[in-house]
Amino acid sequence: MAGRDALRDLLAREGGSATVARFMEIALHDPERGYYRTGAAAVGPRGDFSTVPSIHPALARAIASWLLARRREVAPRGPWHAIEVGGGGGHLAEAALRSLGILGRSGLRYHVVEASPLLREAQRRRLGRFRVLWHDSPLSALEAAGGVALVFSNELVDSFPCHQLAWKDGRWLEVRVALEGERVVEALGPVSDPRLLSGLCALPEGAEGRRIEVHLPYFDWLRAWAGSLRRGAILTIDYGGAGPELDRGRHGTLRAYFRHRTLRGLPVFGRPGMQDLTADVNFADLERWGERLGLRRRSLVSQREFLLEWSPALAREAERDPAVAFVLHEPGAGGAYRVLEQSRSALADLPGVG
Ligand SMILES: C[S@@+](CC[C@H](N)C(=O)[O-])C[C@H]1O[C@@H](n2cnc3c(N)ncnc32)[C@H](O)[C@@H]1O
Repeated sequence: MAGRDALRDLLAREGGSATVARFMEIALHDPERGYYRTGAAAVGPRGDFSTVPSIHPALARAIASWLLARRREVAPRGPWHAIEVGGGGGHLAEAALRSLGILGRSGLRYHVVEASPLLREAQRRRLGRFRVLWHDSPLSALEAAGGVALVFSNELVDSFPCHQLAWKDGRWLEVRVALEGERVVEALGPVSDPRLLSGLCALPEGAEGRRIEVHLPYFDWLRAWAGSLRRGAILTIDYGGAGPELDRGRHGTLRAYFRHRTLRGLPVFGRPGMQDLTADVNFADLERWGERLGLRRRSLVSQREFLLEWSPALAREAERDPAVAFVLHEPGAGGAYRVLEQSRSALADLPGVG
């Protein structure tokens, strides 16, 4: 279906207009037409976007060292569980499992939670020689892990739908998408979810015309399973920030990727289901939501800092390998990506649990 027809169809189903969050939910995750469900999403040079793990194993190596260190704290003896959420093409899992080596993999149960059946197939093909267990939800993976696990994700949160808010005449309004005849238009209306303005979200100072994104559906998703993590850690890697770096003015950070081209403004809403849609992640929100759910922030660092802490040899490798230099580069990927570690040391961290 051509982009305009798909858009008309999508908006007709929503009664003529949709919030950005609802638009993204359908365009990315609809079981029949969603970008992540139909096979449109292929990570790497032949897809619409590349991720750091699809370029180089540096991040996977650092994650493998992190896993081993935290395993000593969380489950020093016997079987232990790593849960990767949103495995994409399986590059991160493959390089992390290889990097752990036979010794590091001993006692390890490696779980992947993957929403896309097609990406799950791609992962199965890539990871055939390793013992990996697949799940539909973190809850089922945590059940298999007895509630004690090291959970991690790369570029997962940014693939969740987000609300886009615009500051106008001294207040935040929500951006909606509509069709006027053949023209795609945006309209501003009251926020669709009162929690957006309730203090649950870390909203910045408003400035006329400024737009921001809030990944509130991620909070609901996290809330559905975080209570089942009895002991362990959650490592979340994504592009974004926690302060002024999120201020991108009148288009906000919302964008589409189509064959490695970046689109902003109205073209973001063309071709629903055929291009990736994303926005920078507000890590101040993730921290706040984690605290609500009894997860303690352990650290928030740039990707560069994380890589050098857990894989110090990369500093030397960067001198001769341009791909390593790229993932470490502070004004580029090394600074654009953040790494948040949250932990649950015991059930006592859970709000309301003594
Ligand atoms: C942008 S890709 C990142 C892939 C991979 N982590 C990487 O770095 O190459 C996002 C991944 O998250 C998956 N995903 C999105 N929402 C999900 C959810 N709610 N549960 C599980 N997987 C999800 C997508 O299917 C895809 O595999």
